[in-house]
Amino acid sequence: MITLGEGGTPLLAAPRLSERLGVELWLKCEGANPTGSFKDRGMALAVSRAVNKGAPGVVCASTGNTAASAAAYAARAGLPAIVVLSRGSIARGKVAQVKAFGAEIREIEGSFDDAHREARRLADDEGFVNVNSINPDRIEGQSSAAREVLAQLGAVPDVVVLPFGGGGNTVAYAQGFGAELPRFVLGEAERRRDTFATAIRIEQPVHGDEVKRVLERSGGTVLSLSEKEIEQAWRALALDEGIFCEPASAAGVAAIERDAAAAGGRVVCVLTGHGLKDPDAVGSRAA
Ligand code: F0G
Repeated sequence: MITLGEGGTPLLAAPRLSERLGVELWLKCEGANPTGSFKDRGMALAVSRAVNKGAPGVVCASTGNTAASAAAYAARAGLPAIVVLSRGSIARGKVAQVKAFGAEIREIEGSFDDAHREARRLADDEGFVNVNSINPDRIEGQSSAAREVLAQLGAVPDVVVLPFGGGGNTVAYAQGFGAELPRFVLGEAERRRDTFATAIRIEQPVHGDEVKRVLERSGGTVLSLSEKEIEQAWRALALDEGIFCEPASAAGVAAIERDAAAAGGRVVCVLTGHGLKDPDAVGSRAA
């Protein structure tokens, strides 16, 4: 097993936000993972299995976090990694991580969806293992977070709230909870193409159909959020609770802010990545 000590992240009560929103809010702080995002859970398993298969390397497309995680675990495993990135869309902390871990960066002029196609092509051409979330090992690894939440709370929460980019993490949580699902409430950026929450700049969710089924099974819903709503939730997490996450991670809290009724009861909100991933967001948004 290739590991960097992923998982075992804190589940923190959020007393001030709970009081204001009228729910019992818990925050699953995935920024506490080794590279600062939830991606490490799935990457540990995907890279371990790639090694066991004798793969010559790993490849992924990314809005930044998957790339940072793939680069770290590939370095740990002694494998080369190629990351395909959309030029100008990746937060500075994530680019620094990819470079520090020695992965090869291929920048393209297109969107994340174009990068995703290019990564699949590279996997086919070079025999590298694709470690995007279309790789089921990624989903299986990420499902550990839901089982941790169950152990930490001692019960299934009423609601789980997640940011919605490609939908892989939603599918992973549903897998982890198993037969007894909480209600899933997802926050997506209204401006998927160019949101300041660069981690979720994804126009075509690759897991869209599976996400739809999870929402149907759990009686869940998706809320499309304005830039202002995401920014305000992101600031509130830092100012009111002392938690600095990256902007995309605040989409879940923004969804509850919009519709606390939709998310009533005992709510677990997944904060997917650390604030230091995107230091420039602070200067440009939170004056
Ligand atoms: N939050 C953060 C911090 C992310 O990095 C991502 C996705 C999401 C939420 C959305 O999760 O796609 O499973 O619905 N980041 C990917 C990446 C796309 O390349 O790092 P999802």
